[in-house]
Amino acid sequence: MIVLGIETSCDETAASICAEGKIVSSSISSQVIHEEYGGVVPELASREHEYLLNTIVNKSLEKADFNYHDLDGIAVTQGPGLAGTLLTGICFAKGLSQGLSIPIIGVDHLEAHIFANFIADPELEFPFISLLVSGGHTQLWLIENVGKYKLLGETLDDAAGEAFDKGARVLDLGYPGGPALEKSAEGGNPDAIKFPRGLIRSDSFDFSFSGLKTALLYYMDDYSNSNSITLNDVAASYQEAIIDVLSNKLIRAITYYNINTCVVAGGVAANKNLRTRLHTLLSNKNVIFPELDLCTDNAAMVAYLGEIKLKNGEQSKIDFGVLPNLKMITF
Ligand code: KG4
Ligand code: ZN
Repeated sequence: MIVLGIETSCDETAASICAEGKIVSSSISSQVIHEEYGGVVPELASREHEYLLNTIVNKSLEKADFNYHDLDGIAVTQGPGLAGTLLTGICFAKGLSQGLSIPIIGVDHLEAHIFANFIADPELEFPFISLLVSGGHTQLWLIENVGKYKLLGETLDDAAGEAFDKGARVLDLGYPGGPALEKSAEGGNPDAIKFPRGLIRSDSFDFSFSGLKTALLYYMDDYSNSNSITLNDVAASYQEAIIDVLSNKLIRAITYYNINTCVVAGGVAANKNLRTRLHTLLSNKNVIFPELDLCTDNAAMVAYLGEIKLKNGEQSKIDFGVLPNLKMITF
C-alpha cells in the first residue's frame, strides 16, 4: 500500500510517502516566519501551511518517484495541535482523497511520534515504555501493542519542550528555544546552580516544570554579569534539571514495570545531553531514539502509522473534523 502522510499540527509543513512500511520520501519545511515573534503565531502558521502544502506534497511525490495516481490512501494529522493549522492540512488531504477516490485516515499526532520509533528501529518489539517529550506534552506510556496504550504519568503543568522554550526566552536565546538552550548550555557548568527538580521524590510518574521556570525567573532578577556564573552556566544548570527529572522518571517506570526497551519520542528527544544520559544510565537496556528529523514534527511518522491503520481496515469518514485537544486512548 502506498500512503501519503500530511502533518500540519503546528509550524512544520510536512509530507511523506510510506510504501509497504518503508518511508520512501519525507519533505519538510520549518516555518521561519515565527522567529521574530519568539513563538508560533497560529494565524501565520495556518497561512504558511496553505501556501506551502502543495509544493511540499509534490516534492515528496517527486522524491519517491510516484505520482498522485499511485497513492492508495492518505493519512493526515487530526490532533492534538492548533485548530487552524490542523484544519489546513485536513482540508487539503480531504480534497485529495475525494479527487482521487482513495481512503483517508485522521491520525493522532502523539501516537505517530511513538510509532516513529518503528521507522528508527524496525526490530522494535512490544511491550515498551515510551517517554513522549514535545512542546505540548510530557508523558510516560506503557505501549503493549498497536492501540493498547497505558498512560503512566504526565506533566501537571508545563511540558518539557515548553520548559526549554520558556527558559530560552528568559535567557534571550532566541527561537526555537530547545536547540538554542542546548547550544548555550554546551559551554556551561551543569552543577553551577541547583535548580528545583519538580516531583522528583514523588512516587508518581507525573512531572512538573513550572517551578523550574519560576526559579529561573527569580534567579535572573538578581543576576549580574559580573557574577562568576556565566549565562552558559545558567543554561547548563537549567537543562540539567530538566534532564535529571526526565531520566529519573523514565528509569523508575522501566524498573517498576520490568520492561527492557524504552523509546524516546517528540522534539525534546533531539537533545544530545538527554540522549547521552539515558544511554549511559540504561546501558543494560534497549534505549531507542529516532534520528533527529524523526524526533521533531514530520510526516513520515504520520504516513507510517496511517498505513498500519488503513491496512487494519480503519478509515475516517469524509466529514471528520480537527481534534485540537485529542488525547490518546488509554486502557
Ligand atoms: O515534537 P515537536 O517537534 O513539536 C510538538 O509536537 O510540540 O517538539 C517541539 C519541542 C519544542 O519545545 C522544542 O524547543 C523542543 O521540542 N526541542 C528541543 C530540542 N529540539 C527541539 N528541546 C531540547 N533540546 C533540543 N535539541
Ligand atoms: Zn510533535
